[in-house]
Amino acid sequence: MYPSDKPRLRLRTKLMLLTGLLIALVILLVVTLVSRSVRRSILAETQKRGVATAQLLGATVLNYLKFYYYQGIQQNAHIAKKENDLAYVIVYDKEGLTAAHTENDGLILRPAADPEALESINAKSALFREINVMRANSNRQEKVFDIAVPVYTKEAPGRWGTIRIGISPENMNQDLTAIRKQILQVGLIALVFGVLGTMILANRISTPISKLMTGSLRAAEGDLSHRIEINSGDELEGLAYSFNYMMDQIRRHQEERIKSEKMAAVGYMVNTIVHDCRTPITVIKGFASLLKDFQVSTEEGRQCLDFINFEVERMERMLEEILQFACDKKSPLTLEEHNLDDFIRECTVEIGALLRNTRINFTQDLQGNSSVKIDRDKLRRAILNIAANAKEALKGRGEFKLSTRFNQSHALIELYDSGGGIPESLQAKIFEPFFSHGKSGGFGLGMSITRKIVEDHSGKISLESEKGKGTTFTIQIPLSRPEGEARSMAHFS
Ligand SMILES: Nc1ncnc2c1ncn2[C@@H]1O[C@H](COP(=O)(O)OP(=O)(O)OP(=O)(O)O)[C@@H](O)[C@H]1O
Ligand SMILES: [Mg+2]
Repeated sequence: MYPSDKPRLRLRTKLMLLTGLLIALVILLVVTLVSRSVRRSILAETQKRGVATAQLLGATVLNYLKFYYYQGIQQNAHIAKKENDLAYVIVYDKEGLTAAHTENDGLILRPAADPEALESINAKSALFREINVMRANSNRQEKVFDIAVPVYTKEAPGRWGTIRIGISPENMNQDLTAIRKQILQVGLIALVFGVLGTMILANRISTPISKLMTGSLRAAEGDLSHRIEINSGDELEGLAYSFNYMMDQIRRHQEERIKSEKMAAVGYMVNTIVHDCRTPITVIKGFASLLKDFQVSTEEGRQCLDFINFEVERMERMLEEILQFACDKKSPLTLEEHNLDDFIRECTVEIGALLRNTRINFTQDLQGNSSVKIDRDKLRRAILNIAANAKEALKGRGEFKLSTRFNQSHALIELYDSGGGIPESLQAKIFEPFFSHGKSGGFGLGMSITRKIVEDHSGKISLESEKGKGTTFTIQIPLSRPEGEARSMAHFS
C-alpha cells in the first residue's frame, strides 16, 4: 500500500498528536500567566490587609506603649493574632525593646537584635517583606509575609513604637492551587474536545484521500471505470470530480485508440476481400455479356442476363464503397434532382424483393411529393440497410411501413418496424462502425454507412425506439428548393 515498508504514522494520528500538543502548550502558558497575575494581586491585597491590621493594633496599644504597660500590649497582640489568623505579632516600644512577642515570651524586654527587627524599628513608613522564619513548634523554616508599621500620633511628634505582623502565605497558596486546578480542568475538557474534533476532521480528510488512493491503484491496475464518490462540498469533492473526469478522458482516448486500431485492421481486411472479390465479379460480368452475345433464345433469359449484369455492377460499386468507407475516404456523391416519392417507389421494388417469402406486412404512405438532390444509388443503399435490419428485427412477421412527407425545408423519410425495438443504452451506439448486437454474422457496418450517406447529403438520421413497441428511423434530406422559394417560383412562372 505504501511506498516503503516502514511503519508510518497515519495522517489522523499525526493531526491528533499535533493538536493535543498545541492545546497542552496553550494550557501551560495560560496556567503560568494566570498564576503570576493572581499571585501579584493576592500579594497587593495581603499587603493592604496586613498594613491595616498592624495600624489598627498600633492604635489599640498606643496608650499602653506610652505608659509601658507591657501586659496590655501582649494581651492585645495575642487577640490580634487570633482574630486575624496571623503567623505572629511583635510589638517594639520606642526604645526598641520587645514589648510583645506572640511566639517567644523569652524575648520580651530584650532589645531587637536580628536584622529584620532592626530594619523594622528603623523604617519610617510601612515595610513589606517576604522572609524565612523558624516555626515555633517545628524546626522547619517557613516563608512569611512580614509587615512592619511605625506607631505615631498626631498630637505628639516622634515614634511610640513599631508593630510587626507575619502573614502565612498558606491561604494565598491555597487560592492559587484552586485557580490552577480550575484552569487545568477547563484545559482538560478543551483537550478532549480538541482531540475529538481533530479526529472527526482528520477522518473527513483521510477518508477521501484513502478513496483517491484506492481509485489510483485500481486505475493503475487497468480498472478505468472505477468512480470516486465524495460529497464533502469542498476542494476534496473538486479533486474527486477532477479524478473521475480524468478517468473518463483516459477511457475515452483508450476506446478511440482501440477503435482506430480496429478500423485499421478491418480496413486492411476489407481491402484484401474487396481485391479478391473483384476478379470473380469481373469474370461473371464478362461471361454474362458473352452469353448475351450468344443470342439467348427467350425474352425471359435475356431479362435474367440483364438482371445479372445490373446486380453485378451494383456489387462492384458497393465493394468500392466499402473499400472507401474502410479507408475513411469521403466517397463523392453524384447528385441529381429527383422527386422524392418517385425515388421511394423505386426503392419499394427492392424492399418488396427483400421481404418476399416472409409474413411481413409492407405498407407505404407517400406524401413527399417534393424535389430533392440525391445520389439515388447511395440513398437507396441507406434505405435498404434500414429495411434489412427491420427484416431481421421482425423475425419473419410483423409490420414494416415506409412513409414520406416534407416540411418547409426538408423531405422526411420514415421507416417503421414493429420489431423488438432497440434498448435505450444501445441507441447511440448503433451508428458506430462495427457495432452489431443480438445477431450472428452482423458486420456492424450497415447503420454507420447509412448515417454517412445521409450526412453526405447534408441530412440527418434519428431514431425512436421502445422495447417491444418497434422502431422508427427518420431520414431528413434538405429540399432542393425550400417551400417558400418553390412557392414564389411557382408564382412567377
Ligand atoms: N430496426 C431495428 N430493430 C432492432 N435492432 C436494430 C434495428 N436496426 C438496427 N438494430 C441494431 O443495430 C445494430 C447495428 O446495425 P447495423 O446495420 O449497423 O449492423 P448489423 O446489422 O449488425 O450488421 P451489418 O453490417 O450486416 O448490417 C444491429 O446489430 C442491431 O442490433
Ligand atoms: Mg444491418
